[in-house]
Amino acid sequence: MLFFPIQATHILFLHENGASVDSPSPSYAIIKISFSCKWHKLKPKSDSNKIQVIEKNVDPETMLLPYLRKKLRLTGTKYGCGGGGCGACTVMISRYNPITKKIRHYPANACLTPICSLHGAAVTTVEGIGSTKARIHPVQERIAKCHGTQCGFCTPGMVMSIYTLLRNHPEPTLDQLTDALAGNLCRCTGYRPIIDTCKTFCKTSGCCQSKENGVCCLDQGVNGVPGFGEGNETSPNLFPEEEFLPLDPTQELIFPPELMIMAEKQPQRTRVFSGDRMTWISPVTLKELLEAKVKYPQAPVVMGNTSVGPDMKFKGVFHPVIISPDRIEELSVVNYADNGLTLGAGLSLAQLKDILAEVIQKLPEEKTQTYHALLKHLGTLAGSQIRNMASLGGHIVSRHLDSDLNPLLAVGNCTLNLLSKEGERQIPLNEQFLKKCPRADLKPEEILVSVNIPYSRKWEFVSAFRQAQRQQNALAIVNSGMRVFFGEGDGVIRELSIAYGGVGPTTVCAKNSCQKLIGRPWNEEMLDAACRLLLDEVSLPAGAPGGQVEFKRTLIVSFLFKFYLKVSQTLKTMDPVHYPGLADKYESALEDLHSRHDWGTFRLQNVGPKQLPQDPIGHPIMHLSGINHATGEAIYCDDMPAVDPELFLAFVTSSRAHAKIVSLDLSEALSLPGVVDIVTEEHLRGVNSFCFVTEPEKLLGTEEVSCVGQLVCAVIADSEVQAKRAAKRVKIVYQDLEPLILTIEEAIQHNSFFEGEWKLECGNVDEAFKVVDQILEGEVHVGGQEHFYMETQSMLVVPKGEDQEIDVYVSTQFPKYVQLIVASTLKLPANKVMCHVKRLGGAFGGKSVKTGIMAAITAFAANKHGRAVRCILERGEDMLITAGRHPYLGKYKAGFMKDGRILALDVEHYSNGGTSLDESLLVMEQGVLKVENAYKFPNLRCRARACRTNLPSNTALRGFGFPQAGLITESCITEVAARCGLSPEKVRTINMYSEIDQTPYKQEINAKNLIQCWKECMAKSSYSLRKVAVEKFNSENYWKKKGLAIIPLKFPVGFGSVALGQAAALVHIYLDGSVLVTHGGIEMGQGVHTKMIQVASRELRMPMSSVHLRGTSTETVPNAYTSGASLVADLNGLAVKDACQTLLKRLEPIISKNPRGTWKDWAQAAFDESISLSATGYFRGYEANMNWETGEGHPFEYFVFGAACSEVEIDCLTGAHKNIRTDIVMDIGYSINPALDRGQVEGAFIQGMGLYTIEELKYSPQGVLYTRGPNQYKIPAICDVPTELHISFLPPSQNSNTLYSSKGLGESGVFLGCSVFFAIHDAVNAARQERGLCGPLKLNSPLTPEKIRMACEDKFTEMIPRDEPGSYVPWNILI
Ligand SMILES: Cc1cc2nc3c(=O)[nH]c(=O)nc-3n(C[C@H](O)[C@H](O)[C@H](O)COP(=O)(O)OP(=O)(O)OC[C@H]3O[C@@H](n4cnc5c(N)ncnc54)[C@H](O)[C@@H]3O)c2cc1C
Ligand code: FES
Ligand code: FES
Repeated sequence: MLFFPIQATHILFLHENGASVDSPSPSYAIIKISFSCKWHKLKPKSDSNKIQVIEKNVDPETMLLPYLRKKLRLTGTKYGCGGGGCGACTVMISRYNPITKKIRHYPANACLTPICSLHGAAVTTVEGIGSTKARIHPVQERIAKCHGTQCGFCTPGMVMSIYTLLRNHPEPTLDQLTDALAGNLCRCTGYRPIIDTCKTFCKTSGCCQSKENGVCCLDQGVNGVPGFGEGNETSPNLFPEEEFLPLDPTQELIFPPELMIMAEKQPQRTRVFSGDRMTWISPVTLKELLEAKVKYPQAPVVMGNTSVGPDMKFKGVFHPVIISPDRIEELSVVNYADNGLTLGAGLSLAQLKDILAEVIQKLPEEKTQTYHALLKHLGTLAGSQIRNMASLGGHIVSRHLDSDLNPLLAVGNCTLNLLSKEGERQIPLNEQFLKKCPRADLKPEEILVSVNIPYSRKWEFVSAFRQAQRQQNALAIVNSGMRVFFGEGDGVIRELSIAYGGVGPTTVCAKNSCQKLIGRPWNEEMLDAACRLLLDEVSLPAGAPGGQVEFKRTLIVSFLFKFYLKVSQTLKTMDPVHYPGLADKYESALEDLHSRHDWGTFRLQNVGPKQLPQDPIGHPIMHLSGINHATGEAIYCDDMPAVDPELFLAFVTSSRAHAKIVSLDLSEALSLPGVVDIVTEEHLRGVNSFCFVTEPEKLLGTEEVSCVGQLVCAVIADSEVQAKRAAKRVKIVYQDLEPLILTIEEAIQHNSFFEGEWKLECGNVDEAFKVVDQILEGEVHVGGQEHFYMETQSMLVVPKGEDQEIDVYVSTQFPKYVQLIVASTLKLPANKVMCHVKRLGGAFGGKSVKTGIMAAITAFAANKHGRAVRCILERGEDMLITAGRHPYLGKYKAGFMKDGRILALDVEHYSNGGTSLDESLLVMEQGVLKVENAYKFPNLRCRARACRTNLPSNTALRGFGFPQAGLITESCITEVAARCGLSPEKVRTINMYSEIDQTPYKQEINAKNLIQCWKECMAKSSYSLRKVAVEKFNSENYWKKKGLAIIPLKFPVGFGSVALGQAAALVHIYLDGSVLVTHGGIEMGQGVHTKMIQVASRELRMPMSSVHLRGTSTETVPNAYTSGASLVADLNGLAVKDACQTLLKRLEPIISKNPRGTWKDWAQAAFDESISLSATGYFRGYEANMNWETGEGHPFEYFVFGAACSEVEIDCLTGAHKNIRTDIVMDIGYSINPALDRGQVEGAFIQGMGLYTIEELKYSPQGVLYTRGPNQYKIPAICDVPTELHISFLPPSQNSNTLYSSKGLGESGVFLGCSVFFAIHDAVNAARQERGLCGPLKLNSPLTPEKIRMACEDKFTEMIPRDEPGSYVPWNILI
């Protein structure tokens, strides 16, 4: 493997030799890079630690991220999405303002930052703040030691966001820190340990930090019920806080003096950079800017590039010329005029936020209504990085349909101050401007200089509303600005303005409705009339883009209702005599959802008293790569340096779901410079398929395609840019084929299934139905899920040039499979193909089958051309091609008694498998074997079929069928409880396994720990008390409801086959006494390598620091099965243990001869005596069998038990929900590493919570996936972590067959996320009951804001127009 040394770096960008606008001849920039490895202030003018890179021909199309990663080989900054949505690429940018003499440090997304825009700025990357080679920064140290890294791929971005905040606020509040991380996604940790890291930088951590009346949030508990752990519980720290490096702001890198001098002294002139296709013009005075605009009227004025950048990248928009004003003071004005504030168009949204926050402190409240409203939206608009990059002018002029600020600016009567060479003029920011009517718009040669935002007046009220899929860093589904102005004290509407975003192609102003309401008093009749007028004027067609049409219509009137209540309430406080108050319970419509500071507790297990102090088993050892993750030194596949002369491979995928390929024209693509070849099905003749399970998977499909996203051909070029450009030029003519099957229902109708049906039956279901009191039948749909591993699919194939050997570096969970499929495709024996994996940036089941297919094609290209070939998928491609968790349709029929006992259950599972088999049948098998979760159903039948559809084939995802099967069963139980008039927890308890019992497949189960988890969870969560408190809250609040639910877990662990569970390890002892461990497991964030070193350390009785692990390779451990099924540490740990014991046994005579010796002495002595210092270890797999004929067997080795109780609060008017508190109790056997195990439980829980509540895949009726990145698909962010999260492990229990009695925890926690689903269900139920809606409540997963709102039926949902299904083509379909 090739590695490139990373230097800690601080980068200065100095552009020189610019040309004037009149002569934009090719110019070049000199970019100076100063490498500063020392942990002290940079000495001005000291060049001793600087290296200069002369960059001629700076290409304006180049963004900072590829420049850092590919050109400068600074790979600490990661690619996660390329569109500003994930934060993996966060860097700190610092700029010096020579007028104010101030330095501004701000976080930015390198993926959207053009390098040309960085003139005079200093860029600090993760390497720049600390490294293991110099000294690590306290942020890097603490995130690692607080266990805030798992796969580590998000960590550099997290580090840079925290670091930048600390540069500006050395003693931040927890709110500031969590806000700073709103734009950073992590798919592994569940964020809690990252919040813990943040707390260590806060003055007072863990609570509201206010002790009003001597009471702080921690003392209050929830709903007045004492919080967890109060009293005698302890919350041990899993990290040594007292040892942390102090944060010393005086030790930070200083702003480069060269840049300050340059800013102060250098004459300013327009700089021009010309690339192959694009010219970048940076004028520095207003005059030059206007001249440039005259010369290039069509050129965009790029400020933050957060709108132009994504359009160019994702929508194929191209601008040959870009004008980027640089440091033009007039664009940053802040003027307090008589009529309002005038704010420069060049101010960033973050600066705008700070300015408004200051203004509302200074001015009387009646003048600042619009500013308050803007500030509210600025708090949730995107993440901190985007807010710091995006400008006010860019935001306004972009006129995005979901702009948060434009509706407010429009209702606030703002004016835009424009300037051109012709002179100044003002235009109103009104409906015509927003609709881009030519007469109301900027002229091409005009620029927006500033915006005037008027002060509000007495009796004038302005409010902002928005609802998104997630509370933070998510574009609004609908947003709104509303303003009303009354006559002096008379409550009669004099002016009314209402504008909405998200309901049309741009912001929509409801001008006519507002006009008609002028002169009316502010009362319920007016409200009623207003709702009808608005629904009429802001009409959304049934098939409107974006879907969620009925939800959007409901939000239109729900927001108005909120505004009505808010204004009524204010009027009452202003004049209580004339204005009646609101009923108390209606006031809840106005309150924000429950918000408290994050805190949590953890009860871990203590190590036994007899354990040796140096034995690391059972201790919370930090992830061994934690520090490297945090410094950016951890190497992932795409961080490997180029193997010269390397080629890049880009896939061309099908755009049709079921079609014949009539022609494939490669000529234009092949004619592009740099294109080397295009691999098609023809090249792969005879090797174009590989059997993963029972049915061959096709590699490329050039004759017929069966899903959008199917791999058609692969372009190989000498650069990534060229390969991608050429891929777009491949012309494919399709002829659509029938039938087009996309949904589970369509598959059932067409009888389109993969071969094989799983069926499990115990007792006599049909007879039992005859004797039960009641029978219910129902169905529930469980949506799919995207893996969203932060590192996209990545591979680099290197032909060795000798004996046909080939090395495959690939981000996969299953090296053996990659080795075999590559060998088969290349017609080579496996011993010529070696697959190497250092670590993965997350996988969750998504890096096996499809990875193998892509690696095989990449290897084919590499072999054919005898050159290294790299293939890295972009986020959108990755989501399109690789698919994810299977959507399920569950149909159930339950027979039960009045007391809640379920005597008969008949369940059918249908999954949407997609076009090829992949792991669909295996997933369904697990769903069937785990269907009963924690319950004993004496008569049970479960049948399962995987549907073959024209969608990309779904695959394994953490939990493997259980999260879907479990939710179906729990939904049924919830419905049974409702029918019986019993609480769901009562019915759950009644039906739970008893201590010694039998599963439906007759495997014995001891459910003692299940019952204990359930009881402890009930007790620790104060379930009964809180239930009463929730009911009280609900009776007092009409528009907000709380819900509480507790769910048990029984998760069987095992592969169901002895052979699949075999594992091997190889342990070498070197003569200096150091040890190298290798095993078949893959490090994908779960910390398996850390655990393996703990095992070796215990077994060999040597310190962990003497043991090393380099990675996984088919060269050292052959034939290892895929890393998954929660078993990686279990199985490989037993193999490592075996190898170590073999070695120890061999060396025992030597050790006993010299018991006081060191490992170095013993190794040398062994060598001298010709005793081998290397051993393989082997574990043959757990005993397992399953006879599907008889429905009996022992497929699992053990069960993980647990329970989770969650409380939520919902807003019935918007569908928003807040996760208030979750308590989890788990039986994990004996924890090898409680920090890692807690991380697995929490990470899985949050991933499950995402699955069941906000993660929603959307497909078009033609089978095209719309949700192809973090901007469309929302995984949980830091705001989604329950404000209280308490984890508790049962005391260790004996489990003799497993590694030190431990249990594998990778997957089980996902299912516990459904406690949030059922808590929301409970809250919705409460709302419906209060509104007199008594029928059964059927809620599908995910329970999104849309579903919550539409289920809380009320007069507003009744009011909206409905569309007859079948009368229109919907924008998206439920697959
Ligand atoms: C990940 C992400 C999340 C986001 N989330 C949200 C969100 O939650 N809510 C929301 O409302 N928005 C959101 N946005 C959109 C964001 O607010 C806009 O992209 C941003 O405000 C545009 O500003 P900019 O300076 O980057 O514009 P640029 O991309 O630099 O320019 C955009 C346009 O404005 C024009 N322009 C800029 N300045 C001037 C000027 N002075 N005179 C004339 N024309 C000018 C340019 O010609 C160009 O056409 C998000 C964007 C991203 C990438
Ligand atoms: S890679 Fe830049 S934000 Fe995702
Ligand atoms: S640790 Fe955050 S994405 Fe893996």
